[in-house]
Amino acid sequence: MRLDKLLSNMGFGSRKEVKQLLKTGAIVVDGVTVKDAKTHVDPALQTVLLHGEPVEYRKYIYLMMNKPGGVISATEDRRDETVIDLLGEEERVFDPFPVGRLDKDTEGLLLITNDGSFNHALMSPRKHVAKTYFAQVTGMLTEEDVRHVAKGVTLDDGYVTKPGVLEILQANEDTSELRLTITEGKYHQVKRMMLSLDKEVTYLKRVSIGELLLDESLELGEYRELTEDELALFDWQPE
Ligand code: URA
Repeated sequence: MRLDKLLSNMGFGSRKEVKQLLKTGAIVVDGVTVKDAKTHVDPALQTVLLHGEPVEYRKYIYLMMNKPGGVISATEDRRDETVIDLLGEEERVFDPFPVGRLDKDTEGLLLITNDGSFNHALMSPRKHVAKTYFAQVTGMLTEEDVRHVAKGVTLDDGYVTKPGVLEILQANEDTSELRLTITEGKYHQVKRMMLSLDKEVTYLKRVSIGELLLDESLELGEYRELTEDELALFDWQPE
């Protein structure tokens, strides 16, 4: 990563201001004064001092993305664009990965981090973190469907889901809209739960994870850092 970018990211001013700072000889990398803003440094391996004080490069990042359809929740793929491809270089240097998966055609709230423990805390089946989805389906949802979901439905492989909360937002003869909250994350779970009710999902978007809501001001494909308050929703304090 470029030295000016690193210092700027760490809050030591704009790239222009950082350039000036470098000119003064205030920055020492591995014992050598560096004045060239273009110098590449690896903050994980090299020591950067500013006026003799170590620049603590933070270890972890926590991002929320409004995932668009058409990209996959993986770090790399030979064929498809991944959610990591949508990040800027500033984020990619952290080697982040998606927390869990959304299907290629699913939109909405996706967390991205490089903190394995955070990932585990959210993904561990024992933690029962609730996830809420908005969906459009074919066919007419009924109160009976709501009751089925509340008891747990049987998926195509015989697995009986944990109770979920189905809210019908709109129900017409050929299409319905719903909100579904579930506490587990089996493969294609929402789509398969709907299939067990003879409905096919035509649009799917995740709107929340636990108490964390998707920031609807993010356009599809946009992302931002989680705030400390948002991390605290998961009882998480960044190191
Ligand atoms: N359930 C699905 O079927 N797909 C998703 O992407 C997420 C949950």
